[in-house]
This record gives sequence, C-alpha cells and structure tokens, in this order.
Amino acid sequence: MSFIDRSTLRDQNTAQIELHRSLAGEYRERYRHTFARVFSEYWNRQFTSQLPDRVGRILDCGCGTGDLTRALTAPAARVVALDISEAMLSEGQRTLPENAPVIWVASPGERLPFHDTVFDAVCFRGALHHMADETAALHEAYRVLRPGGLFAFQLPSHIPARHRVQPRPRAYRLLRRAGVPPAHLYRRLHLHPITMSALPHDRVGEIVRAAGGRILDVRDETATGGVVSSDYLATKP
Ligand SMILES: C[S@@+](CC[C@H](N)C(=O)[O-])C[C@H]1O[C@@H](n2cnc3c(N)ncnc32)[C@H](O)[C@@H]1O
Repeated sequence: MSFIDRSTLRDQNTAQIELHRSLAGEYRERYRHTFARVFSEYWNRQFTSQLPDRVGRILDCGCGTGDLTRALTAPAARVVALDISEAMLSEGQRTLPENAPVIWVASPGERLPFHDTVFDAVCFRGALHHMADETAALHEAYRVLRPGGLFAFQLPSHIPARHRVQPRPRAYRLLRRAGVPPAHLYRRLHLHPITMSALPHDRVGEIVRAAGGRILDVRDETATGGVVSSDYLATKP
C-alpha cells in the first residue's frame, strides 16, 4: 500500500528514497556482522520486554527491511511496518514469512495515513533522525497512539563539532540554489541533502509534552566518533 505523493516531499525525503533504493538489496547483509547484530538484538529485546505478552497493533515507523518488525510479530496481533522507501519495504516483505501478521505501508513518517489512537505501541528504531521533520513525526506518532500506549524511539542527543560540518549537504544546498536538479546531484555528483542532526533531551521533552505525551525513561549510548544516541521510552497519559 503506498501513500507517497512525490509532489509533497521535502528534498531530504526524496534523498532518503534515492539512497535506500541503492542500499536496500545489500542492507541486511551490511548489518549482519556481529556488532550490528548484538546492538540490533539488544534494542529489539529492550523494546519488546516492555510490552505485554499480547498486544493489538504496533506501528514500526521507518521499519527499513523489517529487523524489528520481525521481533514484534511475536507479541503483536498486527504489525504495521511503514517506511518511505518502497525498495526497503520490498526487501522486508521478501524476507519475512508470507503468513507474518504484517501490513507493509509506504508513507512518510511525517504524515501518517491512519486515524487517531489506533495503535497500542509505536516505535522508531534508527529512523527518526533521518526524517525531514522530526517534530512533525513525533506529533504524528502521538496522534496515532492510544492513551496508555507505549512509544519507543531513538535519537542522537549530541554530535561532536567535527561531525557537524557535513560538506556534502552544504554543497548540495549551494548547487540546488544555483538550479542544479536533484537527480543530477545524487546520481552524477553523489551529493545529497541528508544531514545528521541531534536533539538534546530537554528539547525532546518539550516536543513530547506539546504532543500530549510523557517520557518514562531515557538511556544514552555513546557510539564511535562520540555521537550520543538516546533511547527514549514514553507514553500518552
Ligand atoms: C537506518 S534505517 C533503519 C531501518 C530499521 N528501523 C532498522 O532499525 O533496521 C532508516 C530508515 O528510515 C527510513 N526513512 C527515512 N526517512 C523517512 C521518513 N520521512 N518516513 C518514513 N521512513 C523514513 C529509511 O527509508 C530507512 O529505511
């Protein structure tokens, strides 16, 4: 099911589609090495252990090729696996059992094609900071979460100054302003507008409160290069 209207996407959204079109085929292989697997299984366990034994509907937002989706099919009656990249969704769909209780949806996380309060839990694993508008995506997550539901997400909370220079997005923006079309920038010059941004805990707290939510727990992990990634567990009172 696709709810993508290319004419409404921001440059960063389109770039994510382009990037993952070329990554999708090798994505699962790329993250199969021991460190990535240990991290991935750890996060999946962390989240699923917070859930009751049986849950109704869970939204895995920015699901990629469905690594967390697969783990969620144990407790959930239905998992909705949503991503902006149809290539990543196809790879996920190809690798999960055909009878898995999963609905694959192509849509930007900033504009979810669901009614209010229909999910018992929502999660974003390694996805929120790739979205063009994290605040909009957080508000959308809260809109579709039922009161009392669980919301888990990851976001970088600190990026060292040396990683903030990001020459490719700068060059991309300059050339876009000069009128160079995006396709030429991605395919010929390998430039993209994807920036890595960090939101400090207090800013995330403000957004969550404004969306009607409450943070229950935050855990920080320092990755190589000094980037601090924060795991949030939140709810909707
Ligand atoms: C680093 S991958 C993580 C995938 C998966 N959650 C995992 O942990 O393996 C980031 C994913 O976010 C998706 N994504 C990026 N921007 C998005 C947006 N605006 N809405 C929905 N998905 C998005 C990408 O297509 C990609 O599949």
